[in-house]
Amino acid sequence: MTRIKKLFNLDGKVAIVTGASKGIGEAMARGLAEHGAKVVISSRKQEAVDAVAEVFGKDGLEAIGVACHVASEEQCQQLIDTTVEQYGRIDILINNAGTNPYFGAIQDMPKGVYQKTMDINLNAPMHLSNLCYPHMKQQGGGSIIHISSIEGLHATAKFAAYNVSKAGLIMLAQNQAAEWGVDNIRVNVICPGLVKTKLSQMLWQDERNLQAFQKNIPLGRMAQPDEMAGLAVFLASEASSYMTGAVLVNDGGILHAPIMS
Ligand SMILES: NC(=O)c1ccc[n+]([C@@H]2O[C@H](COP(=O)([O-])OP(=O)(O)OC[C@H]3O[C@@H](n4cnc5c(N)ncnc54)[C@H](OP(=O)(O)O)[C@@H]3O)[C@@H](O)[C@H]2O)c1
Repeated sequence: MTRIKKLFNLDGKVAIVTGASKGIGEAMARGLAEHGAKVVISSRKQEAVDAVAEVFGKDGLEAIGVACHVASEEQCQQLIDTTVEQYGRIDILINNAGTNPYFGAIQDMPKGVYQKTMDINLNAPMHLSNLCYPHMKQQGGGSIIHISSIEGLHATAKFAAYNVSKAGLIMLAQNQAAEWGVDNIRVNVICPGLVKTKLSQMLWQDERNLQAFQKNIPLGRMAQPDEMAGLAVFLASEASSYMTGAVLVNDGGILHAPIMS
């Protein structure tokens, strides 16, 4: 293998990807596995993660499915323990599982909805990172990737809890990067724009809404989940060995270059 190509190689690495039964998480998990990593596919439903692991296996990729509701500390601990029992180490953690259960005014937001959003989008990534930390430190390093959103970088009316959680995730990553660089644990963030998945369905299922939305995207279209996978491979691998605390926007240009009409 050529020198630079080798930098993207993940042979011998073990990765955990939360929210990997579909959408962006599944695409990133596939990206890591196709570059040689052993991947733990995780989401709430065992059947769903087993189905993805089976498809990966048929394609000659190494993967197991481990169910974990990321807001459950007990299930997070089981996810880590099973990974170490099965594969012996943890090199890569992708905190991808996310939720956006509320669309509405800040003052009307039920307390429980706010708490749930924070628990899944922000508190769980911190907790899972802390569980991975001793393993990565002992191994001499690791890569943690948080999936935030462009919604963590700007305000959007009626998305408050989601945006606050995603902004918090960016600051969590930067603080982890500041503290864990000494252990060679790198922590970076990906901020997708609109990607065609179940989570974003309300933004694209109506063709007229989609057309209007896409007019503001310089590349003129929403992304497919696979278009997020390359960044995940890059951040997981030695190709990004000097990068930590970075916030990488992958949004077709919408955030920084809205089209004026
Ligand atoms: N799609 C977009 O336009 C977009 C844009 C910016 C950022 N993002 C972010 O990208 C990430 C992935 O979203 P997606 O669009 O790929 O969504 P998706 O297709 O709906 O997939 C969400 C995944 O998370 C799992 N999940 C949901 N709640 C969970 C929980 N409490 N514990 C563990 N797993 C859970 C789901 O599986 P189960 O139902 O089986 O648990 C599924 O695998 C999210 O963090 C989202 O905020 C998405």
